Amino acid sequence: MSTSSDIAGHYTKGDLLARLHKALAADGADPERPTLEALAPYDQFHGRGLEVTEELADTLSVAPSDHLLDIGSGIGGPARYFANRFGCRITGIDLTEEFCAVAREVTTQLSLQDRVRFEQGDALAMPFADAGFDGAYSMNVSMNIADKAAFYAEIHRVLKPGGWLMLSEIARGDGGELSYPTPWAETPDSSFLVTAKQTEDGLRSCGFVDIALRDTREQALAFAKRSRALVDQGEKPPHRAVQLIHGAAAATMAANTGRGFAESAILPIEVHCCKAE
Ligand SMILES: C[S@@+](CC[C@H](N)C(=O)[O-])C[C@H]1O[C@@H](n2cnc3c(N)ncnc32)[C@H](O)[C@@H]1O
Repeated sequence: MSTSSDIAGHYTKGDLLARLHKALAADGADPERPTLEALAPYDQFHGRGLEVTEELADTLSVAPSDHLLDIGSGIGGPARYFANRFGCRITGIDLTEEFCAVAREVTTQLSLQDRVRFEQGDALAMPFADAGFDGAYSMNVSMNIADKAAFYAEIHRVLKPGGWLMLSEIARGDGGELSYPTPWAETPDSSFLVTAKQTEDGLRSCGFVDIALRDTREQALAFAKRSRALVDQGEKPPHRAVQLIHGAAAATMAANTGRGFAESAILPIEVHCCKAE
């Protein structure tokens, strides 16, 4: 069984800010004054990147007075996107200290620090009061969490009655075995995949209602095809977060994930649900 430090260790390679600056400069962007657009290939560290964040945001109605929670906030791309789009406040929490440090730095560069903040911490024991958030989302995080019931219960605790939760993640499919490493785990010891049905049942058991679940396998395969076509034309793929975070291992990770989707070993899903009023 994997510990929190194993998970954070998987994501911590050191010098992340310097590597981000180098990648931005290679794209022709100013690393000291990055835009949301220039950052998007790197700071949306989940399958299909910004495309998914935009799709999820399109389904939501968020008021500027709302306070949202980003669970497993990474280097903060989704939080900055939501804050910029809706004018709301966001608090992100993430196990990986290096990600939180880079998230804060980039957020300050974009002058969003008054509305977007990041705390290092564990999603299973969040340092937040009960019923404080209007909505919460978590993107590609639960695959690192063994105790799903504790995860859902903790999110339920910090949401206001009527608050919403959106999950974008990878479920276990009904196909063969997934090969490792993947972007979220070096070995199966730190990968905790459950089926879409188990996700739905788990959320219901923790008190969530109005659960709507969507299988986004077709979108994932189409995105991979579009990315391959760009690379074949000598262009950069639209999503470069895995390369930024994991360096040389990224190609094997992406190949394993791509094969996992194609063979239905894994299934990308999106879930929307609410805490009862
Ligand atoms: C694949 S990254 C996704 C980051 C971000 N959600 C995004 O989409 O850009 C997974 C993140 O989950 C975080 N994480 C994993 N387990 C966690 C836990 N128990 N509590 C808080 N964060 C966790 C990792 O540190 C990592 O930043």
